[in-house]
Amino acid sequence: MAEHVYIEDIAKHEGDEVTLRGWLYNRRSSKKLHFLQVRDGTGIIQAVVSIGDTPDLFEPAGACGQESSIEVTGTVSRDERSAIGYELHVTGLTVLQNVEGYPITPKSHGDAFLMDHRHLWVRSRRQHAILRIRATLARAIRDYFDTRGFVLFDSPILTPAACEGTTTLFELDYFDTKAYLTQSGQLYQEVGALAFGKTYCFGPTFRAEKSKTRRHLQEFWMVEPEVAYMDLEGDMDLAEDFLVEIVSRVLETHRDELEGVLERDVSALERVQKPFPRIHYDDAVKEILAIRDETEDPELKANLEIDWGTDFGAAHETELTKRYDRPIVVHHFPSAIKAFYMKKDPASPKHALAMDVLAPEGYGEVVGGGQREDDLAKVEAGIAAHDLPREAFEWYLDLRRYGSVPHAGFGLGLERTVAWICGLHHVRETIPFARTLDRLKP
Ligand code: 4AD
Ligand code: MG
Repeated sequence: MAEHVYIEDIAKHEGDEVTLRGWLYNRRSSKKLHFLQVRDGTGIIQAVVSIGDTPDLFEPAGACGQESSIEVTGTVSRDERSAIGYELHVTGLTVLQNVEGYPITPKSHGDAFLMDHRHLWVRSRRQHAILRIRATLARAIRDYFDTRGFVLFDSPILTPAACEGTTTLFELDYFDTKAYLTQSGQLYQEVGALAFGKTYCFGPTFRAEKSKTRRHLQEFWMVEPEVAYMDLEGDMDLAEDFLVEIVSRVLETHRDELEGVLERDVSALERVQKPFPRIHYDDAVKEILAIRDETEDPELKANLEIDWGTDFGAAHETELTKRYDRPIVVHHFPSAIKAFYMKKDPASPKHALAMDVLAPEGYGEVVGGGQREDDLAKVEAGIAAHDLPREAFEWYLDLRRYGSVPHAGFGLGLERTVAWICGLHHVRETIPFARTLDRLKP
């Protein structure tokens, strides 16, 4: 048998006889030729079986169903019409398993059907593009922090206390005491920042959120940097620099998939450059109300209603971000709607030193963070005001007893970022196996 090669390396083998190991993605046939679309996970190539050249292979090649596992040997030749520039002239074919009735056919299927068959759906070209971009983004995220002096400091997944409010906790029994799946690694990153100066964690987080929106998952991945001696201003600078870098990394390596497979308008991503507009919450509310006044759509008008002191909903974020050509940072949210650890602005305590980065084109919040309260008495008051069990936070309070300093950080949700970069309507396609309100399978 000829040397096994991967389709992504095919250009190095022009003129050679090679073997591909993969699956039949699709087939077109005429009386004398079969055009097999062969995929091996690294790409898709057309393999031509000709009745004249290989009469013995013609019938088996025509009998293979979609997703049959096959080994195909052939000669690599240049082909200008092919998307990858090469095709294979088949000289040998081994069918490991001939498949009949693969459930996902090239015709279109509904979302629920595809999500039920997610274990198979991930074999498709579009899912490949999305999940490879996710993988690149994860690498870019790690590289960003690893090359800037941040120490990877993993936060635990099983935790004794809530970080982001008690209403979205997944509770479990931990040898007769209660434990929770982490909502955010932040509190432990504060430990890390006071120990190492700059740390980050990147892992799964969980929210028992009863939200059935296109932006919510129950299990999602979050990267959370935390920096000692950093204030809100520095936090916004870091988030901006970080986003510009990771988006450009994806553009460098996946332009073809973004444009060719996902039909993404990449000019919107090219505009992700510094500086991002920074808008005070109070001004953002005014802007939203101005949009409300301008619109003639009664439903939108109603959805844009907002009182000072309330959080933004999807409509607010979408309409606000539509006015800008790049991500925006909204800062100084009302303290009352923010978590217990948020530092209040000393000049205006009804505002928290909090910020969100909102992605353009209506993709909503991708980053949430801010400066942390560093005064012991104020953190204690925050814990009491949020009705949190004080015992579970004693270790956290030690950070305010022993060498407390101003510090800040943020969390970026990987799935929302992938949805935005890929231009996807729903986050469910951005993770191999989405966990949503109505789905725990496959
Ligand atoms: O704004 P959030 O809740 O912030 C925190 O958890 C902070 N403790 C982070 C920090 O400062 N270290 O979540 C941060 C980000 C959001 O901006 C969003 O991108 C994502 O996490 N996120 C979700 N993504 C998908 N599904 C959900 N249910 C999400 N909830 C938050
Ligand atoms: Mg948030």
